[in-house]
Amino acid sequence: MVILGISGNSHPRGNRWPLRWQKRINIPNAGLAKLAPDLPTKAGSPIPPFQLQFRFAAREDWRLISVVQRRERVLLRMNKPILVTGGAGFIGSNFILRWFEQEQTPLINLDKLTYAGNPRNLVSISSDDRYQFVHGDIGDRELVTRVLREQRPQAIVHFAAESHVDRSILGPDDFIQTNVVGTFNVLEQVRAYWSELSEPEQQDFRFLHVSTDEVYGSLGPSDPAFRENTPYSPNSPYSASKAASDHLVRAYHHTYGLPTLTTNCSNNYGPYQFPEKLIPLVILNARRGKPLPIYGDGQNVRDWLYVVDHCEAIGRVLAEGKPGETYNVGGWNEKKNLEIVETICGLLDDFCSQDPVVPHRNLITFVKDRPGHDRRYAIDARKIERELNWRPRETFESGIRKTILWYLENEKWVNEVTTGAYRQWIEKQYST
Ligand code: NAD
Ligand code: DAU
Repeated sequence: MVILGISGNSHPRGNRWPLRWQKRINIPNAGLAKLAPDLPTKAGSPIPPFQLQFRFAAREDWRLISVVQRRERVLLRMNKPILVTGGAGFIGSNFILRWFEQEQTPLINLDKLTYAGNPRNLVSISSDDRYQFVHGDIGDRELVTRVLREQRPQAIVHFAAESHVDRSILGPDDFIQTNVVGTFNVLEQVRAYWSELSEPEQQDFRFLHVSTDEVYGSLGPSDPAFRENTPYSPNSPYSASKAASDHLVRAYHHTYGLPTLTTNCSNNYGPYQFPEKLIPLVILNARRGKPLPIYGDGQNVRDWLYVVDHCEAIGRVLAEGKPGETYNVGGWNEKKNLEIVETICGLLDDFCSQDPVVPHRNLITFVKDRPGHDRRYAIDARKIERELNWRPRETFESGIRKTILWYLENEKWVNEVTTGAYRQWIEKQYST
């Protein structure tokens, strides 16, 4: 028998190994250091009872890829990739960049490269041997089947979606096609692939669906924040399409036993966000002396989360989440839109005092409200904190500074996105 895996396990739900394959023993510090030399230990002090899991397996492909003392641990097969859909978008590209900083496991990115997908976000890792890009649509049955059969992923993180509420109001078709039909197609092909895996592989497989807090509808000023059991009440074509996809994911777990996980997250902000969304739009318009459009009275409330915190939460749910469960992810940062815009203007006054219009708040312009505009979102993120020990690292104050500085320092990216130059590059690069 060969020892192929070892992990520190401080969390009762953290154990992803099928029980019949495991033995649990306690060993002293010396033995631990010998078995896992890169595990951080305090010199001379025995680690307090530290539970190790040994996997005795016949197959050679299981290996430890990261051990973090008594906290998060990710046990993945190094030679089996994970498949990410929509990884050239805002959150997906942040997730992939973080993945390659922290993990050894290969990753395949399947993305259609709509207007929101920009492979330039990933230039820094694009020549990494562990990264593979597949240009295509999640609605393409043959393609998805081929990727699954050829790449044999051990997990899927499903980001691909149409994501902008205003676009869904102008034209819902693509939202139904990608978010509902596309997700259904991915689930169907994954079900076929998963059903042919061996039993241990089936148990370890994960399908993580990245969803939104908008499925819960709109809150009044003193309503409690959304919890995982808050009834669904989507109000826009976008949120209705995401709600439909959440229900499908739930049904595939309940009916077929597919090991699914769903995250419902609040508003993200940070690097690489397409400037149709409030925060990057305001930063870029303010710099150019253009109006800063505020819908309605500007008193709508969103709960803002720095994107890297979201990516960390997704990683935690992937590694330690319980199949069939949903996890709400939020920043504990409820802010009115007007307050957000004024904060950005104040910071830009300091950073860019030579801009065409200063103070930048003189550019604030109240415009017609978004039809059906949800008044307030707020996430109760206590479940993911309690069960998976995740909390956001950034405050809004630290996250928004980082975000503004990123947009100031990445003028080339901004220019390519705002002029559409990256689209020409995509056409050239991916035309065959
Ligand atoms: P985004 O619009 O920036 O990126 C979407 C990505 O999906 C793009 O790369 C696009 O090319 C790709 N895509 C779209 N249609 C596709 C298709 N048919 N096949 C393959 N790829 C396709 O979106 P985002 O803001 O990064 O959001 C990612 C996910 O997170 C979405 O599912 C969204 O609903 C969810 N979410 C977003 C937020 C947020 O604040 N942005 C918050 C919570 C949840
Ligand atoms: O809550 C999570 C959702 O957050 C995600 O599921 C969506 O994919 C993401 O786009 C985001 O949706 P919102 O509609 O909340 O984000 P947006 O940035 O478009 O708008 C934020 C708020 O700002 C909202 O109340 C509308 C308002 N707004 C937006 C724009 C673009 C304005 O007042 N002016 C604007 O120009």
